[in-house]
Amino acid sequence: MTVEPVPTVAVVVVAAGSGTRLGAGAPKALVGLDRHTILRHALDGVFAAPSAQVIVVAPEGHEGAALTDALAAAGAHHDLVSVVPGGPTRQASVAAGLAAVWGDVEVVLVHDAARALTPPAVFERVIRAVRAGAPGVLPVVPVVDTIKRVDGAVVTGAVDRAELSAAQTPQGFDRAVLDAAYGAAEREYTDDAALVGDHIAARGGRITTVAGDPLSFKVTTPDDLVRARSLLAQHPHPSPTSAPVTAPRVGIGTDVHGFGGEGALWLAGLEWPGEPALSGHSDGDAVAHAIVDALLAAAGLGDIGTHFGTDHPEYAGAHAEAFLARTVDLLRTAGWRVGNVSVQVQANRPRFAARRAEAEAALSAALGGASVAVSATTTDGLGFTGRAEGVAAFAVALVLPA
Ligand code: CTP
Ligand code: MG
Repeated sequence: MTVEPVPTVAVVVVAAGSGTRLGAGAPKALVGLDRHTILRHALDGVFAAPSAQVIVVAPEGHEGAALTDALAAAGAHHDLVSVVPGGPTRQASVAAGLAAVWGDVEVVLVHDAARALTPPAVFERVIRAVRAGAPGVLPVVPVVDTIKRVDGAVVTGAVDRAELSAAQTPQGFDRAVLDAAYGAAEREYTDDAALVGDHIAARGGRITTVAGDPLSFKVTTPDDLVRARSLLAQHPHPSPTSAPVTAPRVGIGTDVHGFGGEGALWLAGLEWPGEPALSGHSDGDAVAHAIVDALLAAAGLGDIGTHFGTDHPEYAGAHAEAFLARTVDLLRTAGWRVGNVSVQVQANRPRFAARRAEAEAALSAALGGASVAVSATTTDGLGFTGRAEGVAAFAVALVLPA
């Protein structure tokens, strides 16, 4: 029988928030990224690091679901896992987790479950720095945007980016320092590094930094969720080396709409007066919809139903421009830009020859200027397009790292 060593490191994973800004209708940590939740992904990162005690601070009433995720992530290390209910604030949730830390633990990491894709290497860097004697360790990434100081709508000054860093988790602490700081805290702090930093400043203590990781971004808004899902779709196990999207990707999309809609025909982003209209939830523009599917497929972002289905009433009756502009936004959020698009229409009518350049210009404008080629063909009288029952469109798209 092998005797496992008593852990001297504990990781408190706070997962008790409601996820107001995500607005998913369920506690954020329990929202799925793929077939696994945000919490499960966060815990996979935790358990890839050296064996530590792991305390999951769960949303009250959801302890069972959190335990299921924790046990699945822990595998053979299931005896290292415990779940406690959280409190009304993040700080209260961390305090609840700290109360469950075992006696022999010397180093405590506090980690946001919402940073679901944090690479194991970040945990290792933080643990190493605390073991080397730092009372508190904060993983940071450089601030890439230019930052301005503003007063209402007026810019009042510039802030030197070199002086700024974005704070991430896991934040690591000497256990005694963290316990003492939490025991003494008399107000709410934005994070543990701020709380501990305040406490140790009186004795000249400082929080130090290690490199964080771009993959450690916090899932906060629906756009962050799209980004996390897309990263997972491209790299089921993102790692610091596989993270940057560097290679172009292609996607394919097709769509069919039947004639029989109300009003005018809209196709390839153009209105075609005098031509029979296509039917559909939106304007039935099969050309635009095929392009959307090709772009989403190329970026690994699902398909048109994922983002524009009938549960999105704002797209009822919408034209190509709205679909394509939103698709470009989704791609940008996931780190992609449109390379080029080629789309072919199969239809007896309308006749594209005279308006092909106009259609290409309209679609290109809706895609932020990307090159779009439109071709059209008939099907020699065969099939539903040959019988003039409807229109089919086939698109391929290339996306490039933004
Ligand atoms: N958290 C917690 N207990 C709370 C509030 C937050 O454990 N009372 C956790 C969240 O689950 C999350 C982390 O702290 O993993 C960071 O918080 P945040 O991203 O703000 O999550 P939420 O508070 O859930 O989201 P929102 O602020 O949008 O409601
Ligand atoms: Mg919050």
